[in-house]
Amino acid sequence: MNSARDDFRLLQEFVKSARATLPEGVWNYVIGGADSETTLRRNRQGLDSLAFRPRVLRDVSEIDCSTAVLGVDVRLPVLLAPIGSLQDLHPGGGATAARAAGQFGVLHMQSSASAPGLEATARAGPGPKIFQLYVRGDEGWVSDHLQRAAASGYHALCITVDLALYSRRERDIAKRHLTTARRHTRREDEIFLARLSWSDIERIRREWTAPLILKGIATAEDAAIACELGVDAIYVSNHGGRQLDHGRATIDILPEVVETVAGRAEIMVDGGFNRGSDIAKAIARGASCVGVGRLLAFALAAAGQDGVVRMLEILETELRVCLGLLGVTRLEQLNESCLHAAAPVAPAHALSAFPLLEEGY
Ligand SMILES: Cc1cc2nc3c(=O)[nH]c(=O)nc-3n(C[C@H](O)[C@H](O)[C@H](O)COP(=O)(O)O)c2cc1C
Repeated sequence: MNSARDDFRLLQEFVKSARATLPEGVWNYVIGGADSETTLRRNRQGLDSLAFRPRVLRDVSEIDCSTAVLGVDVRLPVLLAPIGSLQDLHPGGGATAARAAGQFGVLHMQSSASAPGLEATARAGPGPKIFQLYVRGDEGWVSDHLQRAAASGYHALCITVDLALYSRRERDIAKRHLTTARRHTRREDEIFLARLSWSDIERIRREWTAPLILKGIATAEDAAIACELGVDAIYVSNHGGRQLDHGRATIDILPEVVETVAGRAEIMVDGGFNRGSDIAKAIARGASCVGVGRLLAFALAAAGQDGVVRMLEILETELRVCLGLLGVTRLEQLNESCLHAAAPVAPAHALSAFPLLEEGY
């Protein structure tokens, strides 16, 4: 751990190291989005379009960044978002990410498209975990996965619903890159993703009695249906700009979802959240936690388990400083009054949260 502490003092150092470590195709798979990458950029642009309204002269000597997510106490309002083909980034894949999450004290969401698979990841380390499922089979196939997830002790199940069709990710096409997961997916299984509908969610809700999350909700209308079906957490996401292009920034989707959900479910969000200050903005807008996707990928590729733990430590430091300078000591004190609309200061892109990279630091 000490060596990761020395090697990585800034979040951007994970990006730099991952860039140097990963083969060209894998690097582009991680950073890329769909089509013209407008949604991807807009996620950052949305965050950059919010400034803070700090309050001063409040005692901020004791700051607490901890919270609870789906009943689990966590050290930070952060979860490790599901990433497919993590084994292409680090040999330990999801198991290494799960161990890091357990060591630090946040939740890991294991992608059904990542090795070493459902059971092995569940056994990988301490701490509750979430299993993320892409529905790529019939009712029997889904039931089997639910039973296996329950038997392996997963705390919650997440169904990703924004992948009805696989988008066109031009970087992957240009580099002729096929992830391990894609190589092992049969075309005929993908029809189940396209056919997935609310009646399937209703059935899954009946079968799965532990917390259920829907990931990829991007409108108040769909959040309302999810609440009516008894979903426990609405995960506002546009898949990190990797699915529908020309979508809205997830930070801009939050207000309508928060209003509609009105406390009936927890709200998770991801998409471009790369800094402690980004996390503070999401919490101020009513999210209970923030998923980090590419940041996890960079840290894992750069330094495995230690890297992911170190990445979370730096995020925690950034969030602590942000809260203190805003004049708050607990996450519950963040609200819309902390935020103000502002013009972004630079063009947004996948790595624009780290401007020193451009200067070659
Ligand atoms: C390389 C990569 C693979 C991903 N694989 C999955 C996946 O298997 N399942 C899923 O629900 N989302 C997947 N996502 C989306 C992430 O869970 C998350 O929504 C997104 O990365 C958040 O944006 P961020 O990368 O800007 O943090 C993937 C994202 C990336 C970057």
